[in-house]
Amino acid sequence: MERGRVTMDRNADAPWSKFDPEVYVDNNYRTPLEVDLLIVRLMRDYFSRSFASGVPNSVRGVDVGAGANLYPALSMLPWCEKVLLLEYARPNVAYLERQVSSGSYDTAWDAFWEELRGAPAYGAIEPRARFGEVARVERGNLFDLDGHRRWDIGTMFFVADSMSECPEEFHRGVRCFMNALSEGAPFAAAFMKESVGYRVGEHDYPAYRVNEDRVRESLEPFTGELEIHDLHHMVRPGHEGILLALGRRNSEIATP
Ligand SMILES: C[S@@+](CC[C@H](N)C(=O)[O-])C[C@H]1O[C@@H](n2cnc3c(N)ncnc32)[C@H](O)[C@@H]1O
Repeated sequence: MERGRVTMDRNADAPWSKFDPEVYVDNNYRTPLEVDLLIVRLMRDYFSRSFASGVPNSVRGVDVGAGANLYPALSMLPWCEKVLLLEYARPNVAYLERQVSSGSYDTAWDAFWEELRGAPAYGAIEPRARFGEVARVERGNLFDLDGHRRWDIGTMFFVADSMSECPEEFHRGVRCFMNALSEGAPFAAAFMKESVGYRVGEHDYPAYRVNEDRVRESLEPFTGELEIHDLHHMVRPGHEGILLALGRRNSEIATP
């Protein structure tokens, strides 16, 4: 913390309307990093195990705070009749709408599909056509997910920890995500470990510093099964690795 600084950046204070998705993709995903490819394989195998005994009819998925990252949504593709990409920042909403409505998402995402298609359920589908059919984009605030709408599978990547400096908003973000999942729903959530914030182009965005214990404490009340992978990969200065949580929603009611 800076000397003398007493206020914390809350979610509503950050410059979301200035978020630049192309710069963000350049910084993070245009050149695929080994850690993201590892995450994709872990998620692919976890979802494949979750649906090993059969895929129910009409599974609906949600990626919360999708931003300029398609790999969480792609990892839900074989299982879902619909996938909602929920995002707050308008430039990211526009980015996602271009990816869905063009009928052909950017080639930047092909490297991630290459990992996914190593499992049979993924190998059996044509991702561009399927993505265009099932994915829909909605502008929305994670904090408004109050349990009235529920999905059967969900992802939230680098959102609850990367949207505010405020501990209360981190915990609320996790609760709202868990609120959006129906009982038994498999989910994947990723967090930057000990992040001090991040820059996209000319703008700075806040983060809340989490470690494995904090992530476990926040998720455990709402999970039946839960595994947390502590991935010791650094993708930029100002964090200490990545935490990937894979689990299933229990029947606990989360108070928003
Ligand atoms: C670090 S980015 C992560 C983007 C993407 N999920 C990824 O994996 O790279 C944080 C994302 O959270 C979104 N976000 C911030 N506040 C939000 C809110 N209140 N509700 C929903 N999304 C929000 C931002 O617009 C941004 O897309």
